Amino acid sequence: MANTVLVGAQWGDEGKGKIIDFLTEKADIVVRSQGGNNAGHTVLTGGQKYVLHLIPSGILHPGKQNVIGNGVVLDPVSLVEEIEGLRAVGIAVTPENLILSDCAHLVMPYHRALDAAKELAKGKNKIGTTGRGIGPTYGDKVARTGLRLADLMQAELFCSKLATRVEEANAQLISMGAKPVSFDEVKASALEAGAKLRPFVVNTVLYLNKALKAGKNMLFEGAQGTFLDIDHGTYPYVTSSNTTAGGASTGSGVPPHRIDSVLGVMKAYTTRVGEGPFPTENAEIADLLHGMGREFGATTGRARRCGWFDAVSTRYASMVNGIDEIAITNLDGLDTVKTIKICVAYKLDGQELEVPPSDFQLLTSCEPVYIEMPGWETPTDQIKTFAELPKNAQAYALKIAELTGGKLIIVSTGAQRDQTILV
Ligand code: IMO
Ligand code: MG
Repeated sequence: MANTVLVGAQWGDEGKGKIIDFLTEKADIVVRSQGGNNAGHTVLTGGQKYVLHLIPSGILHPGKQNVIGNGVVLDPVSLVEEIEGLRAVGIAVTPENLILSDCAHLVMPYHRALDAAKELAKGKNKIGTTGRGIGPTYGDKVARTGLRLADLMQAELFCSKLATRVEEANAQLISMGAKPVSFDEVKASALEAGAKLRPFVVNTVLYLNKALKAGKNMLFEGAQGTFLDIDHGTYPYVTSSNTTAGGASTGSGVPPHRIDSVLGVMKAYTTRVGEGPFPTENAEIADLLHGMGREFGATTGRARRCGWFDAVSTRYASMVNGIDEIAITNLDGLDTVKTIKICVAYKLDGQELEVPPSDFQLLTSCEPVYIEMPGWETPTDQIKTFAELPKNAQAYALKIAELTGGKLIIVSTGAQRDQTILV
């Protein structure tokens, strides 16, 4: 299968977990290279539903190696909970199938408190974060004041660094009217989790590069989506990592030219959770999908905002990620729609734009230009081959691929593993 990066081409929640799970069959190693437990990857297999936040979806396949790379931010306490939760339902998680980069930065309770306090202070301009402390943790990383897993492995050093950080963070929390954290509690919970994680901690860069030499196949499991990327997304309504394909390299230490292909995952419509511009947002589509019990967040339970497929943004995603192949998910979400719209351009001040403006304020003013396609008005969730899909559904999927630019390889019509059509 060679080394493939899987990226979300929209605003996250594209169904990446399911596609990763499907592709894992052919991979030897599944790597997370950015983000943290803000991600929520739902995988349904063998009648059981798993929601993974930090651990790569490859953990559900015996014999696959899973790697949490240096670019990830890792909450040690939640990671231990995730490991124990998986073990409780019979999934083996051991240092033989999961390794953690010693360079991964730690999400600490003061990061979560700062995340909440900053959101509160922003009032109506809040980002709508997942509240997992992701922004403040990457903030510390870039400011060079962060603590890493390697620090946590050295108790004395960790405590002295932590004392300084807690003091600073508490001063900031108090100045914002928020409750400070207790150094003793933070220290105790981190050290306890650290002791449990110790056997998993290694130099993952070395591991991955040795695996490259040995000819192993790697699948990079992207979290979030292209327009949540800190550089290429709808800044400041973004997450704090590079969610685009390049992040797979910097976040894992696998050289760029060792990555062979990029698979873009996109829903047959668009969703977004949290604040920020969303040109094709549409209340009718939202009501339809929510009425079907769909589009509620896997991490926070929030109802996702919904809208028509936006080919202007996915085309841009295709460019910035170098998307070679496309997987379209949730096609069945549109099974009852009579006429389906696709946004093919934006209108701004009387001019048609073929790429999204970088500035979110301008993007907010953009009006979508739509084409319409006839719906198929038939259930697709039991269909097993592309040829058996209704003609209108085939045409719609192929149109999305044509407008986005990439070879259509997968159409997904449901959450189950067997509801995956190979094109
Ligand atoms: P997966 O991997 C959808 C969004 C939040 C918010 C913004 C910043 O499941 O696709 P953060 O907590 O990261 O600082 O929040 O990013 N966000 C996601 N939206 N799917 C995700 O992950 C997301 N992770 C973060 O809603 O708008
Ligand atoms: Mg999700």
